[in-house]
Amino acid sequence: MYTLSSDFTISTFLKEYWQKKPLVIRQGFTTFVDPIDEHDLAGLAQEEDVDSRIVSLHDDGQWQVHHGPFSDYETVCQGKWTLLVQGVDRYSDDINALMEAFNFIPYWRMDDVMISYAVDGAGVGPHTDQYDVFLVQGKGKRAWRVGVPGNYTPHYPHKDLQQINDFEAQIDVVLAPGDILYIPPGWPHDGQALQDCLTYSVGFRAPEQHQILQHVTDELTSGLKQGLRYSDPNLSQPRHPALITSTELSALRGMLSDLLASTDCDNALMSLLSTQHLPDTDIGILVTTDEISAYIEEGGLITRTPGCKPVFSEHQTDSDFTFYVNGEAFTTPSSLKELLWEILKGEPVDNTMFINSDDKASLLNLLAQLINHGYWEMSD
Ligand code: SIN
Ligand code: CO
Repeated sequence: MYTLSSDFTISTFLKEYWQKKPLVIRQGFTTFVDPIDEHDLAGLAQEEDVDSRIVSLHDDGQWQVHHGPFSDYETVCQGKWTLLVQGVDRYSDDINALMEAFNFIPYWRMDDVMISYAVDGAGVGPHTDQYDVFLVQGKGKRAWRVGVPGNYTPHYPHKDLQQINDFEAQIDVVLAPGDILYIPPGWPHDGQALQDCLTYSVGFRAPEQHQILQHVTDELTSGLKQGLRYSDPNLSQPRHPALITSTELSALRGMLSDLLASTDCDNALMSLLSTQHLPDTDIGILVTTDEISAYIEEGGLITRTPGCKPVFSEHQTDSDFTFYVNGEAFTTPSSLKELLWEILKGEPVDNTMFINSDDKASLLNLLAQLINHGYWEMSD
């Protein structure tokens, strides 16, 4: 539904810009149609489980930040204000489709789509972000300034708003609907609405060393699994009772590297890299394989829920295929591998796919699990 213009070359982008330098992609989406409007956005920000905020700059120079859910916009939409709503790809198929246009970056690196609606003159001030972002301009026009990475000291004009001092702009552009600005982590930027406007921030994530270690440690030490214990049957008398030798330290480090080289560690990493904050879905009564089969045969479609981003690794056994969704592993016979290649990309499961499958029972079992977890749905 949203396809990047053929003037945009993925290989050139990855080679020259991704994580290296910003890029203005004029008419990255030709004839861009906003998948949402400010009223839908305001409606979403009224929901309990949606993360939203309103940042405003007042005539006296004071910045304000209010957090959703919002029940009354009158008092918070004052001055030059911006409504920002996080994770909208999880609530809307259309926004999810916009994010899919960037799937030349793998799912595990994708975070979410944040949408902002800014009134004329508004912005959130100069700042840096830790993650890569494609800023897709929706309706209205917005001026963007981008500087170069440096030692910018953050300051807080409001406790929930991090900004930096002004910077020298290397890029100074006005984006119109369909234009895209890519910004790598750490590049200072500042956007100011020139008219009431919508901006879609397609954001990426990258795990941090400590976060990886924490998750892997938690996973490897959970449950009843007993690890190997250090042993030293060839111990020779130490030169000093307080001394730990380099050989001993290296043997201990070796125990850790063995753990890190294990399949358990790979599995822990896969669960980390697939973890998303998907909204809680009320599944209600669980669906059976018979019901799914009847539904598909009557022409029903089974689709991936918006925002759901499965992942799989290259390491698979001959008999099984395992993929992960939101931290959970799903293992199926490898006979489903080819179908899963399509399904995990977001292709809906229809009767043709079903008829062509030579392992319908396994497919039905898998679909039942995915639907009953809320990751795929019978979309009627
Ligand atoms: C915005 O949409 O107002 C801010 C986006 C950003 O600077 O990352
Ligand atoms: Co930013």
